Amino acid sequence: MLNSKQSVVITGANRGIGLGLCSLYLHYGWQVIATHRQGAISDALQELNKQYSSDLTLVELDVCDEQSIQHFAAKVCEEWSHISVLINNAGVSIDSKFGEWNQATFLNNFNANMVGPALVIQALSGLFEHNTKVIQISTGLASLQENIGADEPFDAYAVSKISLNLLTKRLANKAQTKSAIYCAISPGWVNTDMGGPEAPTSVAEVAQQISLTIESLTLEQSGSFLDSTGATIPW
Ligand SMILES: NC(=O)c1ccc[n+]([C@@H]2O[C@H](COP(=O)([O-])OP(=O)(O)OC[C@H]3O[C@@H](n4cnc5c(N)ncnc54)[C@H](OP(=O)(O)O)[C@@H]3O)[C@@H](O)[C@H]2O)c1
Repeated sequence: MLNSKQSVVITGANRGIGLGLCSLYLHYGWQVIATHRQGAISDALQELNKQYSSDLTLVELDVCDEQSIQHFAAKVCEEWSHISVLINNAGVSIDSKFGEWNQATFLNNFNANMVGPALVIQALSGLFEHNTKVIQISTGLASLQENIGADEPFDAYAVSKISLNLLTKRLANKAQTKSAIYCAISPGWVNTDMGGPEAPTSVAEVAQQISLTIESLTLEQSGSFLDSTGATIPW
């Protein structure tokens, strides 16, 4: 059970895990700012907006567009004076197998999965309080030690998320930012457009696990890499 009347910003809430987290936090009575891209609000997100009109604010955000990040941050600052939790969930997995690699694949993964979250954190950092939780939705593919699925075409995606993980650790140790709690969380393999229908975990299940893991995070865990249940993943 989550404490109510706290505030969470969730990027990429139009579908998938972001939408599931949005729905769950609203169910527990949180104030939610959920982002969607310009012109793209799914029926499910619109439905939540009707059901929770006083607790949910929808804001446009394209994490690959610096101007969009600035507009989004200005809007969040108009609405709220602080943030309890920020979940950098928006992400892409643009796959390309060895032999077909190109610059665009690497740069587009990197831009959405690392540069975007970095600039979102910087733009919202004025709203962070002591113990604000900043969550980077990462992936098990980003564990250097485990190096899962090296034969799969996820190379550009995996390295972009490894960068996101290192960014998380650096923020946790930076004098300017370290009073907040920064954590990379892998959701595991989840049944979404990205994960595909064969994934063993439902969005509802993983949203519940991630929210409880976030709830239990302490400052001592800042800079850690966890699975959805809160177990440590080796770097
Ligand atoms: N599903 C899995 O098995 C799995 C496994 C490991 C990690 N993850 C991570 O979990 C997170 C959510 O994944 P998901 O499975 O829910 O993916 P998804 O179903 O493909 O949803 C991705 C969400 O991110 C948004 N998005 C993509 N690019 C964006 C951009 N440039 N600016 C703003 N929003 C953008 C999408 O918006 P639109 O609707 O407008 O396209 C969508 O709402 C991602 O970070 C992903 O890497 C997922």
